[in-house]
Amino acid sequence: MSDLSGKVSVVTGGGTGIGFAIAQRLARAGSEVVLVGRRLPRLVDAAAEIGGAARAFAADVADEQQVAALFDSLERVDVLVTCAGGAFFGTMQDTPPRSWRNLFDGRFFGQINCCHYALPKMVDGGVILLCSGIADAAHVPDYGGGSALCGAINAMGRNLAVELAPRGIRVNVISPGLIADTAIESNLDDAGVGKLFAAAIAATPLRRAGVPANAADAALALIANDYLTGVVLPVDGGWTAT
Ligand SMILES: NC(=O)c1ccc[n+]([C@@H]2O[C@H](COP(=O)([O-])OP(=O)(O)OC[C@H]3O[C@@H](n4cnc5c(N)ncnc54)[C@H](OP(=O)(O)O)[C@@H]3O)[C@@H](O)[C@H]2O)c1
Repeated sequence: MSDLSGKVSVVTGGGTGIGFAIAQRLARAGSEVVLVGRRLPRLVDAAAEIGGAARAFAADVADEQQVAALFDSLERVDVLVTCAGGAFFGTMQDTPPRSWRNLFDGRFFGQINCCHYALPKMVDGGVILLCSGIADAAHVPDYGGGSALCGAINAMGRNLAVELAPRGIRVNVISPGLIADTAIESNLDDAGVGKLFAAAIAATPLRRAGVPANAADAALALIANDYLTGVVLPVDGGWTAT
């Protein structure tokens, strides 16, 4: 699936960062692209930057009804990319469980909501690309609940790859390490972000953060290669190889 002419791709989190970089490449490959996020102005700007094949749809992926409305509005879906979500950091002792639950609402149940409501519209032979993170395989400080989320997405991706294979639908996961130049939201202040970046770069054999283009190139390979399914691909400068 490398020529995407006539295809419809939905990219959640498509207004910024990794999702935006993936959406740009999908559009370049010929696909119509629907960018999804909560803030419409940001999505409209992103769609304008991508050009004619892109449009914006405002929805909170944590809200089932809004996700249902998104897919109701579409005739078909060929590619679903679920990059929406932020991060939350805290120790287990000090973090109210509600905070981890909120993280799961957007970033875990958001991906479940999108898969559930996209599938009736997805063509046989379509592709789902989920997004996790390397925290299930490498230690990320103060990220206990987040590490569980990453592992849960990876497990779900492998399971769905088997469930959906009879329809020819492939399911893969990109698992970013530290990717800079994104708008990622978290509860950390500037000093906390600086500390996190320093620790992550020290743990990364290539000793630098990736950029959204690195994740997008990996994503497009997983989308285009029609023999890849059930793959969890780290894009992490070697972090999980240590
Ligand atoms: N950057 C990294 O180092 C890294 C590492 C591991 C995993 N990840 C994951 O990779 C994904 C992309 O991250 P990124 O770094 O590219 O960050 P980003 O630039 O902030 O992208 C996240 C996007 O998701 C949207 N979003 C957040 N919550 C949403 C919700 N409930 N409903 C709809 N849209 C929502 C945001 O737009 P609105 O605010 O307008 O909704 C934003 O455009 C995220 O899931 C992130 O957790 C990133």
